[in-house]
Amino acid sequence: MNPDGNKRLTAAVGVLLLAPVLLEIATVLLGVHTFMSWHVFVGIALIPLVVLKLATTGWRFVRYYTRSRAFVAHGPPQPAMRLLAPLLVVATVVLFGSGVAMGLFQGHASRTTTTGTRRVSPLRGTGRLRSCSASGRSSRRPATPFPWRPSGRVASTRRE
Ligand code: HEM
Repeated sequence: MNPDGNKRLTAAVGVLLLAPVLLEIATVLLGVHTFMSWHVFVGIALIPLVVLKLATTGWRFVRYYTRSRAFVAHGPPQPAMRLLAPLLVVATVVLFGSGVAMGLFQGHASRTTTTGTRRVSPLRGTGRLRSCSASGRSSRRPATPFPWRPSGRVASTRRE
């Protein structure tokens, strides 16, 4: 794909991501445990778009550093973007990976590990997290956020 096509696709995916990302943030702000079905549904719907965005930007990265003439002529992204990108990529992979892992391993021994991963993700909102912990969220949280998973022993395996 040439630089112009790559640019158009990256921009189009960015526009498509906007509404679902805002919806996902809204589920968090309104109470992630109350809106857990929506949170997981929108989260899963976001995954292909996020992967596509990582792919288009990753393609530009690879082509630029493998010295493709067209991509080198097109120039690198702005310096701030180049500095931020590695951090954002890691944060995105940790955030989405831990979200999926949370749903899959709820109630299992590995949950402790995945909870730890989520706690260090830089995109977590601190105010909301404090209120979650302070209000004893374990009693309000569905046992298994992914409806196709059998109920786990969440209360007995929680780490607080
Ligand atoms: C923009 C993306 C996302 C943001 C900002 C976000 C944010 C959050 C936050 C703040 C929590 C509360 C964590 C806690 O109180 O311990 C949470 C929980 C959760 N999220 Fe996400 N999330 C995102 C994407 C996803 C995705 C893609 C999935 C999976 C498909 C997912 C699944 C979950 C699950 C299962 C929980 C419950 C964890 C628990 O049991 O405490 N999230 N999310």
